[in-house]
Amino acid sequence: MNMTSYRILSIAACCIMMQTGCKDDCGTTEPIDINNSEATDTTTQVEKPNLYTDKYRPQVHFTPAKNWMNDPNGMVYDNGTWHLFYQYNPYANNWGNMSWGHATSTDLIHWNEQDVALTRDKLGDIFSGSAVIDHEGTAGFGKDAMVCLYTSSGSRQQQSMAYSTDHGKTFNVFAGNPIIANTDKDDFRDPKLFWHADSKQWIMSLARGWQYAIDFYASNDLKSWHFLSSFNTPEYVRCNKGQWECPDMIKLGDKWVLIVSTNPGGPVSGSGTMYFIGDFDGEQFVADPSEYPMWLDYGMDNYAGVTWSNTGDRKVLIGWMNNWNYAGDVPCDPWRSAMTLPRELSLTNIDGNNYLCSKVVGEIDAIASDWKAIDGDLPSAQAYHVKVTVDMTSNHTIQLANGQGEHFDIDVKGVARLLIARRNAQTGASSFNGSFSIPAAQAPIRSAASELTIDIFIDRSSVEVITEDGTTSLTNLVFPSSIYNAVKVDGNANIGSFRTLEGIWK
Ligand code: FRU
Repeated sequence: MNMTSYRILSIAACCIMMQTGCKDDCGTTEPIDINNSEATDTTTQVEKPNLYTDKYRPQVHFTPAKNWMNDPNGMVYDNGTWHLFYQYNPYANNWGNMSWGHATSTDLIHWNEQDVALTRDKLGDIFSGSAVIDHEGTAGFGKDAMVCLYTSSGSRQQQSMAYSTDHGKTFNVFAGNPIIANTDKDDFRDPKLFWHADSKQWIMSLARGWQYAIDFYASNDLKSWHFLSSFNTPEYVRCNKGQWECPDMIKLGDKWVLIVSTNPGGPVSGSGTMYFIGDFDGEQFVADPSEYPMWLDYGMDNYAGVTWSNTGDRKVLIGWMNNWNYAGDVPCDPWRSAMTLPRELSLTNIDGNNYLCSKVVGEIDAIASDWKAIDGDLPSAQAYHVKVTVDMTSNHTIQLANGQGEHFDIDVKGVARLLIARRNAQTGASSFNGSFSIPAAQAPIRSAASELTIDIFIDRSSVEVITEDGTTSLTNLVFPSSIYNAVKVDGNANIGSFRTLEGIWK
């Protein structure tokens, strides 16, 4: 059974067992008080020993100290602090007991893991959702309250609210939950909020799973919501075959971008994140005609990504660096899953078509050395940022390798304008799941220029390949015996430049 069907079955099994009071098959190793809906959960469940040195532990990407993590949730910027919540199992290294873990950062690069913010209550597990700082106190919890909306996943998926009046230290579950009840819909989840300045109201986007739809709701107080519209024309249904999850609607310049994750049916296989560019009038989103599906990332491992709230015009996204095809099997212990590097989003117009660009945020400079020319093997470091420029009149292979003979190959097809990442048995450990090896993750190169510059971020268990213009991104997990510390372009070990990246765990 693959992870997707396992997860669908385990969600169903958890729902049934929650009703009957039996929780054993949900992977629960400790009792959960499902009648605890009014409680403020401030328990310290995550020990923070120095576990960040294990073999595949990313050195410049966020991972929880231990246990399972999936989607980023509730990301909100509050007065100098970047809050990152995430789907988390406080008890085990597999999916289950879904809660909101919590980490904070003042620079988007170094993260401090906090106490678990929200745990399952009588309405169910705490699935994905979002948070905003309610500066005007529209919800009645006071000015600047942090208001979180999430899916309560019980016998049905319904939308619930929690809030914090101490900048995310402690959380109160709203007594009137659910704020959007559901009696008949099968998939109805992952509320993402934004303030729509023109119509002066809060808007929520909600995913409708196998209906291949995103629903929009509006509210003045974050508590009472009314349905606005649904985005699901047959044209877009044909884009993919997977359920729609984790929407995010953002404004970039004068255009609106709707980000939708879909699983399975991603650009290679399994999980992937699409985007639609169009217009939103406060009621309905209409996508411009384009070559859909358009992918935020053409690799295997950038899923469920959404942006931080309360950042003004700046839009920063982080994704879950994994894929439901094999997420439960990746050889990481005592933790499982990392986030991508944070990505700055923007739009670019090439030959009359708009594209979403995602570049690693400039804050990465804080942990980077000066640039140096590549001259043989790279010096020992926790992680690397490599820059390679190739001419686009011919084909090239950029090879990342280590001293154990393991290598990750990136092909640049100059004339065909394709960027291809190859992950297989030569890359490192791959046999833990049959769907991990992929002959080719292939992405279009949008630029028509005669040279292409590519940024490559190498950590212990990931490679993020991003064209310098940000239009093409390929994010992939890898599990080499040691970090790739050699870069060859067409067999030549002296092409390109690099800077070392300092580890973020102190
Ligand atoms: C996406 C997702 C969400 C859901 C969460 C459950 O990966 O399936 O739709 O809220 O994971 O963990």
